[in-house]
Amino acid sequence: MARYQAPRGTQDILPEDQAYWQWVLGLAREIAARYGFQPIEVPVFEDTEVFARGVGTGTDIVEKEMYTFEDRGGRSLTLRPEFTAGIVRAYIEHGMYVWPQPVKVYAIGPVFRYEAPQAGRYRQHTQFSCECIGEADPVADFEIMSIAWDLYAALGFEGVQFQLNSIGCPRCRPPYIRDVLVPYLQSRIAELSKLDVERLRKNPLRVLDTKEPESQPVVAEAPAITEYLCTECRDHFAQLRFYLDMLERPYEINPRLVRGLDYYTKTVFEVTAPGLGAQNAVGGGGRYDGLVEVLGGPPTPGVGFAAGIERIVLVLKAQGITPPPLPYPQVYFVHHGSPAKDAAVAMADRLRHCGIGALVAFGNRSLKSQLRHASKVGVRYVVIIGEEELARGEVQVKDLQTGQQTAVLQAELVKWFQNLFAQHPTP
Ligand code: HAM
Repeated sequence: MARYQAPRGTQDILPEDQAYWQWVLGLAREIAARYGFQPIEVPVFEDTEVFARGVGTGTDIVEKEMYTFEDRGGRSLTLRPEFTAGIVRAYIEHGMYVWPQPVKVYAIGPVFRYEAPQAGRYRQHTQFSCECIGEADPVADFEIMSIAWDLYAALGFEGVQFQLNSIGCPRCRPPYIRDVLVPYLQSRIAELSKLDVERLRKNPLRVLDTKEPESQPVVAEAPAITEYLCTECRDHFAQLRFYLDMLERPYEINPRLVRGLDYYTKTVFEVTAPGLGAQNAVGGGGRYDGLVEVLGGPPTPGVGFAAGIERIVLVLKAQGITPPPLPYPQVYFVHHGSPAKDAAVAMADRLRHCGIGALVAFGNRSLKSQLRHASKVGVRYVVIIGEEELARGEVQVKDLQTGQQTAVLQAELVKWFQNLFAQHPTP
């Protein structure tokens, strides 16, 4: 029995799952690069203010989910609960607003939220976050959504759904909330759940995407924000939809989609996929035209999205999609006698330096036990070298799949495998 376990809500990603991870992350990087996004790294923790101001003090993330601590110097720091605010902090700190705009960057790494753990919901999860900062054109929104599309399509996901909404801007949203939404919700307050009555007080927009069953009839009939957008937001939304339609990207308008972070303006979207149960969002994002300014930079538009890698892997497994295997040596040296072992170590060394993965049996176990180990670890070819082979300057190469055995000159072993793998590529 293990004395220690990974902390609640965290998990180890073992080698057996790494093929999924490397595949997803490799595709994510490749697709991001195609759209002109470059990698960026930001710290795992930031001044608490970056998230409190950036994500918004009224949000669940800031109110209930942040891992905040005081360091030994008395500073309040927070493990990042998302990437966007930290990336925008970096954008301002490094004066990226004087670079050619927009600045397009993506980050991959762990983020931390103190949530109630369940399938698909963890306290540490991994995001692929793409941010396009410094561009107001709806084509930028389209491209961000398109990266998400391309990723889920490249993975072979079935049944992906894109939900889209516009939640307006500081000009049109407050009057909608004050004059339309709040009076409506108040008129039906008796039908709302306790949690939603509380939300109505603190962050009324969040009532719209409530999961509380009893509040559903109320929100289903709520006046849609898209009917109250200002001309600029309305035009932006229409333009984005024009591109989505022109390029035949299926999506659904969901007037109740508001998302859980305060920085969004105009576009918000969420991607769901079957196979996840309740936590079915595999990605989400939107526009954040006020965020750079909120964090102390010049007024600058921005748009981005993030995908949760753990959830993507869960969907892959639920849908029976298998990743390409990771490279693993296909050659295993077994040996008999000390001089043969030394020769095996030297030959494996030569193979590896010529780009061919190779394993050598450790210790001095019997041939039979070495062969058993070779087939257990899953190599295809075993190179057998004993005293007789050594004397002849040869080895026996056995194909474990076909049982075929071939004598090969030691001096020609590298070339022999290079030819073989050129004809039959292996992982
Ligand atoms: P978010 O919707 O909070 O957005 O998170 C993005 C994705 O991360 C979710 O769609 C989900 O796949 C995954 N995720 C979130 N929380 C968890 C969790 N507790 N366990 C497992 N996976 C999770 C953001 O974080 C925004 N920063 C996205 C963005 C970028 N907006 C603009 N730019």
